[in-house]
Amino acid sequence: MKAFWKGLSILVCVWSLCISRRQVETSRSESRLLSGKWGLRNSNGSLSLAADVPGCVHSALLRQGLIQDPYYRLNDLAYRWISLDNWTYTTTFSVPRGTRQKQRVSLVFDGVDTVSTISLNDVIVGTTDNMFRRYDFDVSMTLRQGDNVLVVDLVSAVGYSARRSQAHTTYKVPPACPPPVQKGECHVNFIRKAQSSFSWDWGPSFPTQGIWRDVRLESYDILRLLYLSAAPAFDSSSSLWSVEVELVFDTVMAVEGYVKLALADLATQQTFQASLPPGQSNNTFILHVNKSSPVDLWWPAGYGKQNRYQMNVQMMLDGGLVLDTVTQVYFRTVELIQKPIPGSPGMSFYFQINGRPVFLKGSNWIPAHSFQDQVTPETLKNLLQSAVDANMNTLRVWGGGIYEQDQFYSICDELGLMIWQDFMFACALYPTESDFMETVREEVTHQLRRLKSHPSIIVWSGNNENEAAIATNWFGIPQSEQPQYVKDYTSLYVDNIRSIVLRVDRTRPFLTSSPTNGAESEKEGWVAQNPYDTHYGDTHYYNYLADCWDWRNFPRTRLASEYGFQSWPSLSTLMKVSVPEDWRYSSLFSSHRQHHLAGNMEMLLQAALHFHLPQSPHPLQEYRDTLYLTQVMQAQCVKAQTEFYRRSRSEIIEGQGHTMGALYWQLNDIWQGPSWASIEFGGKWKMLHYFAKDFFAPVLPVGFQDQGNLLIYAVSDLNNNKTLSAVITVYQWSSLEPVCTVTSGAAPVSGGTALPLYKTPLKELLANCANCTVQTCLLTFHLEEAGRQLGPMNHLLLSSPKEAQGLQKPDITTKVQQDGNTFTVTIQTSAIAPFLWLDVGDIPGRFDSNGFLMVTKSRSVQFYPWAPTSVAQLSQVLTVSSLRGVY
Ligand SMILES: *[C@@H]1O[C@H](CO)[C@@H](O)[C@H](O)[C@H]1NC(C)=O
Ligand SMILES: *[C@@H]1O[C@H](CO)[C@@H](O)[C@H](O)[C@H]1NC(C)=O
Ligand SMILES: *[C@@H]1O[C@H](CO)[C@@H](O)[C@H](O)[C@H]1NC(C)=O
Ligand SMILES: *[C@@H]1O[C@H](CO)[C@@H](O)[C@H](O)[C@H]1NC(C)=O
Ligand SMILES: *[C@@H]1O[C@H](CO)[C@@H](O)[C@H](O)[C@H]1NC(C)=O
Ligand SMILES: *[C@@H]1O[C@H](CO)[C@@H](O)[C@H](O)[C@H]1NC(C)=O
Repeated sequence: MKAFWKGLSILVCVWSLCISRRQVETSRSESRLLSGKWGLRNSNGSLSLAADVPGCVHSALLRQGLIQDPYYRLNDLAYRWISLDNWTYTTTFSVPRGTRQKQRVSLVFDGVDTVSTISLNDVIVGTTDNMFRRYDFDVSMTLRQGDNVLVVDLVSAVGYSARRSQAHTTYKVPPACPPPVQKGECHVNFIRKAQSSFSWDWGPSFPTQGIWRDVRLESYDILRLLYLSAAPAFDSSSSLWSVEVELVFDTVMAVEGYVKLALADLATQQTFQASLPPGQSNNTFILHVNKSSPVDLWWPAGYGKQNRYQMNVQMMLDGGLVLDTVTQVYFRTVELIQKPIPGSPGMSFYFQINGRPVFLKGSNWIPAHSFQDQVTPETLKNLLQSAVDANMNTLRVWGGGIYEQDQFYSICDELGLMIWQDFMFACALYPTESDFMETVREEVTHQLRRLKSHPSIIVWSGNNENEAAIATNWFGIPQSEQPQYVKDYTSLYVDNIRSIVLRVDRTRPFLTSSPTNGAESEKEGWVAQNPYDTHYGDTHYYNYLADCWDWRNFPRTRLASEYGFQSWPSLSTLMKVSVPEDWRYSSLFSSHRQHHLAGNMEMLLQAALHFHLPQSPHPLQEYRDTLYLTQVMQAQCVKAQTEFYRRSRSEIIEGQGHTMGALYWQLNDIWQGPSWASIEFGGKWKMLHYFAKDFFAPVLPVGFQDQGNLLIYAVSDLNNNKTLSAVITVYQWSSLEPVCTVTSGAAPVSGGTALPLYKTPLKELLANCANCTVQTCLLTFHLEEAGRQLGPMNHLLLSSPKEAQGLQKPDITTKVQQDGNTFTVTIQTSAIAPFLWLDVGDIPGRFDSNGFLMVTKSRSVQFYPWAPTSVAQLSQVLTVSSLRGVY
């Protein structure tokens, strides 16, 4: 067992006199992973199997062949029993004497999902109730020689939530249950677990149980490091950078020593005295960067490089090193600017990175899988790279999911993707009992310390839509009871979460909610009368039935942090979880996967505003065409709305405008089903994602009609100024020969602005040009600088394609060739082909462009495969769709 003399000698001495160099050298903390193969059984012992840690019960059952793919057909209902049962994880391990002889041994869980009792050798060492916390249990006295048996007894998250809700008798904390269409479980707001795991309007109910992050033993004689973070700050009065380095230690006894911080590439090094009390202590050191070293900044994607520095961190006690590690430091500043705008009531709302206003372009992130152990670094890389490839610079990590794994944020740091990070509360009211608040405080402190070094995170936000839920009374709470809920709201998000953020990380802004009116909400007591006010803060806006081609239907907000439309994924994605009888739009499967009330009907209603619905006599073809058309509808709707936001960045119209962000809902999918996502489960790009690549382009022409006029705007996110003109080409639907081209005068377009380049009565243009009408003609347009195209080609369909005159069924042929690592598809068409769509089934990869308007006889596009493939394989599966093909 323990070396008694050693503990004694240290306890009775002043540290610096007593700890010999040899002792210090052997006293670095040691870490020993207990992850790997564990045993798993259900409550009555009828099932007993091997299970991976990290992992969850569903994944273990699947891997052992005890269940089918939970995503297959209606299996989410069939496997409900898994999450209603209680499960126990067990492992047996032994530890070398050296470890047991350390002064202290801690059992560390980086993530337990969620409610458990943990025993070691039949002694309860602790309990857990929050999947977002890290848990440390002192097991110094519980470890023994030979086999140690570690048991994690989990209880059903569904059962736990029900019991907690029942116990909350003083007043209700709604919503009780999700809408029936979601086929989910109740009272998820009573458990600190991914809120979407009890079902969401885009995802299934899989209330997992498991050990979803690593487990290890940490043993040490003197101290161990719990957190290390480095957050740069810029002092604008002295123009000097400093780095706030926080070291959180767990110390066996009081010690004193030195901390040395060095940024070699910036000729910066400083040594600090450190005096650590016993137990957990936070220690903050301010490292001043050498003023003669110029600092290379971290920039968001599209604005510059993502420069970084290595910082060496050492801790010395009496000549011996107890800590010697390296961490990354990224220099950037972030400010949220809320100040009066001339000519507009309210306040601005935009982010300034390194002093430069940045228009946030991107989307919202949800968990990449119901079973997080199945999310690989490759999955994350592929999704995040796809975001950057579509010219996004921001993702909002939405508050109904999880704080993502470290690697997610590291990839974002490297790619220059900015993250709007919600705390994990969404679309609900929450209890405020003391134990709930206590576990939330631990969660928030842990997550801040874990994540605050990441430059990608530009804002913390308290929750998703909970200010709006109270303000606009989603849950039908009587007026007289409102104050109780406002009080709970401020207690949770302001008095607790906000005050912790202000204490632990002052290097980026905090918002209490999204959407919110920001400073105005604060003035109104944190719950604004109308959190969707376009004159303040951010907004979320959804309207599925209003014509999405008409920009007058969109709120001219300061920052759009959510908006979107649903579509279905492609057949190749659905085929992985369905059988032929499911492949009809009205099948049981189709309605089962739709978790948004009337969602399937809404998609067709919106599509029918502008398109003929599919009419193929062949049911499978009609189904494919319908999937395709929902994607066309979605892509076109989100394009119209996003272009409206981007062209509104420099204008105030009727008191509204200066829009500085467009984050559509949503980037990714959690399973194969209909949703607002632009990337299907598995990584395949929907048409919307190809459109995003264009509508988020740094330089973008936007065309629209206003009061009989055609306007073309130039939008520029560039750093430098350009002189641009708009070139407009008129086509007749009936011909591939352009009928006329007009060019606007050249005008200066400053970096970071949007302005009209061209305005003329549309009828006049059409009459002068080709004597055509909005039904017979359409436009393409682009921007030019000194005769050279800048930014993508864009188009404006002047009437609904269903009313277009002269649109013909095209004959389309394709040919595939290999060019090194990529493939070229050459397309020939006999007629104008709108929304031309190439599909290569489940061959992983993406095209450089897809879903485009084909107005030339011939065009080639590139296919970038994500795994080896061949011309033969691609040619065999390649299909081409276009709008006129569906009816
Ligand atoms: C044990 O639990 C499983 C899963 O909940 C259940 O299907 C089975 O009937 C139970 N067996 C007995 C003997 O109670
Ligand atoms: C699971 O554990 C809870 C709490 O101990 C208990 O109330 C419940 O009956 C258990 N469920 C099963 C299926 O054993
Ligand atoms: C700052 O850098 C200069 C030039 O590299 C170096 O000479 C000087 O010693 C550094 N100052 C400090 C305080 O480290
Ligand atoms: C750090 O420790 C001090 C002293 O114990 C405490 O007052 C402070 O709140 C702590 N800071 C954080 C960020 O936890
Ligand atoms: C771009 O133009 C604006 C407005 O005319 C001017 O204030 C700014 O200095 C120019 N920027 C550059 C980089 O030339
Ligand atoms: C323009 O087209 C209309 C009908 O499409 C036709 O009646 C008229 O003569 C044409 N005008 C000219 C100048 O070609």
